[in-house]
Amino acid sequence: MTIFVTGGAGFIGSNFIYYMLNKHPDYRLVCIDCLTYAGNLSTLKNALQNPDFRFCKINICDRKAVYRLFEEEHPDIVVNFAAESHVDRSIENPEVFLNTNIIGTSVMMDACRKYGIKRYHQVSTDEVYGDLPVDRPDLFFTEETPLHTSSPYSSSKAAADLLVLSYHRTYGLPVTISRCSNNYGPYHFPEKLIPLMIVNALADKELPVYGKGINVRDWLYVEDHCKAIDLIIHNGKNGEVYNVGGHNEKQNIEIVKMICHELGKPESLIKYVEDRKGHDMRYAINPEKIHRELGWYPETSFEDGIKITIKWYLENEEWWKGIISGEFQYYYNPKYSNH
Ligand code: NAD
Ligand code: DAU
Repeated sequence: MTIFVTGGAGFIGSNFIYYMLNKHPDYRLVCIDCLTYAGNLSTLKNALQNPDFRFCKINICDRKAVYRLFEEEHPDIVVNFAAESHVDRSIENPEVFLNTNIIGTSVMMDACRKYGIKRYHQVSTDEVYGDLPVDRPDLFFTEETPLHTSSPYSSSKAAADLLVLSYHRTYGLPVTISRCSNNYGPYHFPEKLIPLMIVNALADKELPVYGKGINVRDWLYVEDHCKAIDLIIHNGKNGEVYNVGGHNEKQNIEIVKMICHELGKPESLIKYVEDRKGHDMRYAINPEKIHRELGWYPETSFEDGIKITIKWYLENEEWWKGIISGEFQYYYNPKYSNH
């Protein structure tokens, strides 16, 4: 079995590669990643020593290079993680999101049609459903919730989802889609809430909380997401969408305070800053379908997962220190220069 993993040098894709190499030692995994600011080869250092793993620096929008790799490797399954994934960056510059997230998805699926595939899996997000009110805790996203996006990022992901379903209906491409809530864990790029707060707190820097900090996210430990995708690509029904989430809703401010507490840092580091434009209030997944059909449920509690994550950042300073220099500073500093 050969699996193509696009975006495998990023956060979730790399965790998926490690999970699969360990769980299925007889599989060959080929990572396709063009190493944007969010992709790092240092993340795949251990995988690169495994003879069943190959890394290819390819942009998923590069049709020729993608086709060439299909001819060489004859993959059985493609799991498409590659994406521009940061909402704030999409608000500043939507174009690259449209290219990678939509055009890139179509190139990967065209290759799957041309060369044949057992399964194309699209890694999507709960953000395609828009947001829920914070005063209606009884409401959750199901697979039938209409798509209703807020940001250029979520709109590009929703467009990709529609394209995937259209390739299934029009060309009969065997596809599945997973729509997951917010992940956290090792190798999370320190521009996203949890790793940013950890690395800033460690350096006694301000912790920028958008608006009042009352927006709610549904947090899932990344390994639980990897397990869900493994189940879907093997046992999920062709043409189906699966919601993946933790029933673990927390306000942003709760998370930031928890991180301060775990690291023994004062809450006075917290700084309320200008809110994100179009900021989604609450995400909350109903994961009943994947539980009922595939037996999946989240195995790591937030209380355990956040401790494991903080420990990982403490033990892997070399990884994130390399990352927060260079291009990241170029993006991050101007963003907060007037606060
Ligand atoms: P990430 O930003 O950490 O990693 C993205 C990876 O894709 C990077 O390695 C980058 O180099 C690569 N990439 C970007 N553009 C590319 C291109 N044109 N060609 C080849 N490679 C390219 O993202 P992540 O947080 O790991 O998210 C992975 C996927 O999961 C995305 O599709 C995202 O929409 C989805 N998702 C993320 C979350 C989350 O909480 N992080 C939750 C639900 C869904
Ligand atoms: O729900 C799934 C989505 O989760 C994925 O599709 C996205 O790829 C992923 O980035 C994530 O999107 P969010 O916008 O929810 O994640 P982010 O970490 O950027 O922000 C989480 C919350 O924290 C959000 O309400 C904004 C807030 N925030 C974020 C940052 C970076 C802050 O208050 N301060 C910050 O500095």
